[in-house]
Amino acid sequence: MKDFSFYAPTEVVFGRESEEKVAQLVKKYGGSRVLVHYGGQSAKRSGLLDKVCGLLAKDGIEYVELGGVVPNPRLSKVKEGIALCREKGVDLILAIGGGSVIDSSKAIAYGVPYEGDVWDFYAGKAAPETCLPVASVLTIPAAGSEMSEASVITNDEGEVWLKLGYSNNISRPKFAIMNPERTFTLPAYQTAAGVTDIMLHTMERYFNPDCDMTVTDAIAEALMRTMKDCVFAVLKNPEDYRNRAQIMWAGSLAHNDVTGYRVNGDWATHQIEHELSAMFDVTHGAGLAVVWPSWARYVMKENVSRFVRFAVNVMGVENDYTDPEGTALKGIAAMERFYHAIGMPNSIHELIGREVTEEEIVEMANKCTRNGTITQGKFKVLRMEDIAEIYRMAR
Ligand code: NZQ
Ligand code: ZN
Repeated sequence: MKDFSFYAPTEVVFGRESEEKVAQLVKKYGGSRVLVHYGGQSAKRSGLLDKVCGLLAKDGIEYVELGGVVPNPRLSKVKEGIALCREKGVDLILAIGGGSVIDSSKAIAYGVPYEGDVWDFYAGKAAPETCLPVASVLTIPAAGSEMSEASVITNDEGEVWLKLGYSNNISRPKFAIMNPERTFTLPAYQTAAGVTDIMLHTMERYFNPDCDMTVTDAIAEALMRTMKDCVFAVLKNPEDYRNRAQIMWAGSLAHNDVTGYRVNGDWATHQIEHELSAMFDVTHGAGLAVVWPSWARYVMKENVSRFVRFAVNVMGVENDYTDPEGTALKGIAAMERFYHAIGMPNSIHELIGREVTEEEIVEMANKCTRNGTITQGKFKVLRMEDIAEIYRMAR
């Protein structure tokens, strides 16, 4: 087993009515003037935003609201948030939403005490020394940002948009309020994309170059099998509390390092997807469903037995001991069928509604490797040409 450190400081308050504790938690983590940050319409429409603001007001906590975060959250909104927090003297950022709102909150939190351009952190030009505390009321299980140290921001300032992630333990949220009932209103597509992302956060860790993690692998496999079952139940009945709750908790476990230490994971599928969502503004989970099967077929020979184990233990494929590669390929094909069955696309064409061009493929592969200066992935180290080939296989 490789060395690792495990750090998951977020206080999770889970269950029906959990948002009732919001004011108490804000105070516990030092908040007295809060930025309530949210997305488009869902938190307003459901009444959650009003409820949370009402609870803060009732306890004498001052707050200011900033909505309008879009999926694949933008740097321009982050800068608006930084200016507002400085003007109002905000001391805690409360995200009401999913990965996009929480990531935008983390970026604002880094930017408020920093004199330079917050993009410096994402561009790798500087590292923050401090940041404001961040917390969330989660409304969509998917990105796992409610417990993670990561945030992913799209720079919409230039002509060519860049989507880059930045990870730092100082931004791990102080608390996360998770009420599965708040996810009943999720559209089927977002539910399925969320489950795809949750499983991929586990798979990125599972397909690593050092596979001696017996207990962690067993947790990872159980989580992935559970998600495969639960997703069909909630697609059939969106108000199925029991299965919504399994998915919600799995979303956090999949990305808080319980299913594997992030730093040892592969992450190529994520990096390759980030270029798709930067160029075509697609849903992250749907992009992952398109990329993973092609990535898997491209890298499989690095460790066929790992793919056999995945096929048998997660996808329920019968092990043909005379043909390990055949078994591994059946596992990948089964995953592809699963994606289709839950309404996820199987190709870039299905994802964006048209053929991707060779020029676009080359541009994405270039951006993914910063013009060939870096590689992606650890299970197999991928260079620019490898990544272009994976886009072609997925087209
Ligand atoms: O904007 P509103 O109206 O709220 O609608 C949102 C949005 O359109 C909607 N939604 C959320 N909760 C809802 C709801 N609709 C109805 N009922 C509810 N209860 O869902 C849509 C998607 O929301 P978003 O926050 O974008 O989803 P997700 O949590 O999947 O986040 C995606 C972003 O997270 C990044 C992705 O790249 C993407 O930018 N990631 C962040 C990670 C991290 N910080 O650790 C890791 C991930 O791998 C990922 O890269
Ligand atoms: Zn993800």
